[in-house]
Amino acid sequence: MTSAPVLIDEVPVQGEDTLIDAEAAAVERIRRAREILGDQVVILGHHYQRDAVVQFADYAGDSYQLSRDGARVNAKYIIFAGVHFMAESAVILGRPDQVVILPNMNAGCSMADMANLEQVLTAWDELGMVLGYDPVEHIMPITYMNSAANLKGFVGERGGTVCTSSNARGALEWAFNQREKVFFFPDQHLGRNTGKAMGIPLEEMVLWNPFKPFGGLTDEQIRNAKIILWQGHCSVHQQFRPEHIDMWRRMHPDINIIVHPECAMEVVDKADFTGSTAHILNVINAAPAGSKWAVGTEIHLVNRVKQANPDKMVTLLSPFSCLCSTMYRISPLDLANVLENLVEGRVINQIFVPEDVQRGARLALDRMLSIPK
Ligand code: 13P
Ligand code: SF4
Repeated sequence: MTSAPVLIDEVPVQGEDTLIDAEAAAVERIRRAREILGDQVVILGHHYQRDAVVQFADYAGDSYQLSRDGARVNAKYIIFAGVHFMAESAVILGRPDQVVILPNMNAGCSMADMANLEQVLTAWDELGMVLGYDPVEHIMPITYMNSAANLKGFVGERGGTVCTSSNARGALEWAFNQREKVFFFPDQHLGRNTGKAMGIPLEEMVLWNPFKPFGGLTDEQIRNAKIILWQGHCSVHQQFRPEHIDMWRRMHPDINIIVHPECAMEVVDKADFTGSTAHILNVINAAPAGSKWAVGTEIHLVNRVKQANPDKMVTLLSPFSCLCSTMYRISPLDLANVLENLVEGRVINQIFVPEDVQRGARLALDRMLSIPK
């Protein structure tokens, strides 16, 4: 069997011809608007964006690279072709006079929505009640980049940091140099996979269910825990299963398996390599011709790596097309729309973060950028 993940962007759905024509026309509209706007605009594009959008990115990358690059750009307008939490981080790291625009306001992240400030504040108080001390003295809060700005603010005000999939280990090591325990949200898998790689026993990484009192944990479990993991996950990466790895290895014993750390532990444990979207790209791009790769991450990135490496076999790990439907909400039409409005002197879809939230969140993001990877 040859490998051939579905090329999502190339599959016309019945009745969508008009939309496809409009999208093709949007590419021209984007080019024209960009020419007029010149260096007033910078476009940042996440690796999961479709080709028709990411081709316009001045900077394409994983969420760590984009927050670092976004913080350095000079342009007045930053258009973020990513999801809501990424655009918020660009606001926080940017200058006050810069304007950050999300081309489609419905581009969110289901994982980020799995933790809110009220739930996290409740958990923090409950941890303090069980442990009998002020948590800030002994527990380091770490939020994954995939979280709302006010959670980054919560963490920053309590001495904690943000992490991404590319620096989670550095962030945990930094945290354990200062405090005994880590409270990690919202992605249980990134937290568990990173903790396990550092040698932390599974029984010392407990799962906090935000819908149960005291996370559904006993006092003893909380007292013995090194890492308290929030019960959140990515709905795209949870679709990869260890059986998929077995299937590919049966068909191609020499295949390499590479997965994103948002995949479940049983998948990461079986894989040959794990890393951020940028890491996945770099590893496959640098691999020898003829090598074979099954990749556990979002389909647009997998298709792009496949197209860039025609001398290698690159396939999606899952038999189903694992699509981040919220990233997919940003279309070339949306990009054309926000750019043409700028040409007309109108800002639409601007992302705002209240100043009081920004203060703490900036502390947490600056800490993240200063922690060695
Ligand atoms: P990266 O940090 O690898 O870009 O991942 C972001 C993300 O949302 C993956 O699902
Ligand atoms: Fe969120 Fe998952 Fe989409 Fe990443 S792939 S943006 S974690 S829903």
